Amino acid sequence: MVGLFNYQLLLLISITIFAILPLLSSSSSSSSNTKNFHFNVEWKSVTRLCHRKPVLTVNGEYPGPTIAVHEGDNVRIVVTNKVATNTTIHWHGVRQLRTGWADGPAYITQCPIGAGKSFTYSFSVVNQRGTLWWHAHFSWQRASVHGAFIIYPRTPFPFSLPAPLQPDIPLIFGEWWNGDVEVVEREMMLHGGGPNISDAYTINGLPGPLYPCSTKDTFVQTIEPGKTYLLRLINAALNDELFFAIANHNLTVVEIDAAYTKPFSSPAILIAPGQTTNVLLTADQVPVPADDSSAMFAMAARPYLTSVFPFNNSTTVGFFKYQTSSTKIQENYNPPAISPPFTLPNNLPALEDTQFATQFLGSLRSLASDDYPCNVPETVDKRIVATVSLNLQDCPLNETCKGYLNKRFYASMNNQSFVRPSTSILESHYRNLSAGFSTDFPENPPYVFNYTGVNPVTENMNTEFGTKLFRVPFGTRLEIVLQDTNFLNPENHPIHVHGHNFFIVGRGFGNFDLEKDPKGYNLVDPPERNTVAVPMGGWAAIRLVADNPGVWFVHCHLEEHTSWGLALGFIVENGKEPSQCLLPPPSDLPPC
Ligand code: C2O
Repeated sequence: MVGLFNYQLLLLISITIFAILPLLSSSSSSSSNTKNFHFNVEWKSVTRLCHRKPVLTVNGEYPGPTIAVHEGDNVRIVVTNKVATNTTIHWHGVRQLRTGWADGPAYITQCPIGAGKSFTYSFSVVNQRGTLWWHAHFSWQRASVHGAFIIYPRTPFPFSLPAPLQPDIPLIFGEWWNGDVEVVEREMMLHGGGPNISDAYTINGLPGPLYPCSTKDTFVQTIEPGKTYLLRLINAALNDELFFAIANHNLTVVEIDAAYTKPFSSPAILIAPGQTTNVLLTADQVPVPADDSSAMFAMAARPYLTSVFPFNNSTTVGFFKYQTSSTKIQENYNPPAISPPFTLPNNLPALEDTQFATQFLGSLRSLASDDYPCNVPETVDKRIVATVSLNLQDCPLNETCKGYLNKRFYASMNNQSFVRPSTSILESHYRNLSAGFSTDFPENPPYVFNYTGVNPVTENMNTEFGTKLFRVPFGTRLEIVLQDTNFLNPENHPIHVHGHNFFIVGRGFGNFDLEKDPKGYNLVDPPERNTVAVPMGGWAAIRLVADNPGVWFVHCHLEEHTSWGLALGFIVENGKEPSQCLLPPPSDLPPC
């Protein structure tokens, strides 16, 4: 009797413990599905091209540390600002369902983190897997404050592998200025001219051997013959879309912007700032034994040039080095410094290869499988048509302007140049204040004209300034048509939408035709992304379901264009269910 009692008691106790345990663990930061990180934003002295300068970094690393989590994890990142200027961090592509407070764009979803202050970005990674990235979202700080954000899947990859998969390799493309990046931006805004172009492109922070005084700063990755590698490509460059290729190797594209694609093989890829691309690389070449140089294969990135503005048209180079028996035996093998001559990948597209760009982007398709369905809205509740323009503003009296024809450069959507307010729009929205912004963003171009056919310099290109957003009810099926114009110059604009993924249902050159073009939309397996490259002198149509309550920034991911106002915002209202409402702000949200 006594024994039975004890047994029951024990059982009761253990049931209680097991019932309480999950509760305890979900609220405690040490639980296995909460991942904690600490980011210190701090200066670090870095030398490239024989120029030493203080570089803004996270934890002294350039590029910054990789965040690696699993699908479904809760993520807590304490960001401490150890410098004298403001900062914020954005988790580019993370959906931030109901947690817009943690999205990061300064004055859109939060006031910046002031000197000496901290803010904890707290969010969950829900139903997303793959490669994303994080970057500062305050002025041009993202030039050096950026890193990979990897979400490991809980289920096996949906693509087949030609050989056993090796540890994955992030390749982050960036831009290096010998001078102070903050000054580049300040100068540009002060006089209205174009920015000073960067001095180098980089692969994982290293410019490579084609730049002066740079041979030792070359990225070299050892790989084993016969094996397959997952390359996680991230374009963190400020102002340039890039082609990338590896000599003698094809790449198999399997994912873009953390969404699986139908795999296809390509000699090169195109990647716009803001975008990520996962490719498989199989080490299928046979180097000549005992000839080390035959085991080095150059990888290279250079811009896709669609601009008449001064342009950095240089090439960054790194190497894949096949591990041969001679390199295998040495511990801590340090590859020798690479010096020219070597062969550039002849599969790297030329600077103005629009044909390759169009064909590559046209090959991207959602996987659209049972496990990873393509949930593109087949009909829409609202369509917004927005022109994407560069502008030439008359110079204010008594000022000298350094833009074309002594005017000032700006940029706009539907002739609205977005001005960031001095308070957080999300906070105002949450508190039902309308201070600092309005919700009357024009849903169609204010003037109808031949957008891509006007004379690019004689047109009146003055724009209007304001903080205009549009507002949609929760669950709205939304289409946005992004129409490039040829004011000044038609350019390829990578437009990024915060808080949502979208489907690129159509794209084309010339003017969007409301009668004709929607008939050609792909509503079966359009590519799913968070950043779309709008073709130069053309248009792209995207569809999304506005199912994330909050305030979301939409902008060109070419930093110079964002500074000039190529942006808008939209508000997604709360839904009826509590689970469709924006959560309350975190207690440590910075004040303005
Ligand atoms: Cu990656 Cu608003 O940006």
